[in-house]
Amino acid sequence: MKNIAVLVSGGGTNLQALIDAQNSGIINSGKINLVISNNPNAYALERAENAGIKTIVCNKKELGNEFEARLIEALEENKIDFIVLAGFMCILSKDFTSRFEKRIINVHPSLIPSFCGEGFYGLRVHQAVLDYGVKVTGATVHFVNEIPDGGEIIMQKAVEIKPDDTPESLQKRVMQEAEWKILPQSVEKVCKGE
Ligand code: GAR
Repeated sequence: MKNIAVLVSGGGTNLQALIDAQNSGIINSGKINLVISNNPNAYALERAENAGIKTIVCNKKELGNEFEARLIEALEENKIDFIVLAGFMCILSKDFTSRFEKRIINVHPSLIPSFCGEGFYGLRVHQAVLDYGVKVTGATVHFVNEIPDGGEIIMQKAVEIKPDDTPESLQKRVMQEAEWKILPQSVEKVCKGE
């Protein structure tokens, strides 16, 4: 059984999808034992507490240069095997990502290599998708390396864009149809060693 930490910043619907997948048996090769948030007000923290999962806040603004060192300390103390970035809005340094090579995975709300990289996060991604006028978008789960959204792809799922979509409606559909499905499936896959 692999030991999983989920890193979050906001609402935590992807964290919830992981908790639900654990309860329903979709994830059975790993267990979420730690949730770390850079934002002390993240609703994701409440979701973790409701599920009985240990939480830690690492506030980047307060910790400054010590931020990654504190993350590493928490991950090592808790003997974490896999790190899942689920709406975690901080870019991690090469020093950090190389320490956990092939052990960090991220969910991104577009079909990489489109609409990704620095500056593409949350609703901005869906706004850019609509501005460009593409007809299909989706979500990608990938390993994390030093290039933002540049690591090896694990799973992708496409989602059709509707003519009356807004960034908000599209975000919701990409989450429901793609992210909440492929993130838990990918976590099981990497924990199983597939
Ligand atoms: C999700 O759509 C996730 O893919 C995205 O932020 C949202 C977090 O929602 N992540 C990024 O944009 C990272 N580049 P959640 O807190 O409800 O899971």
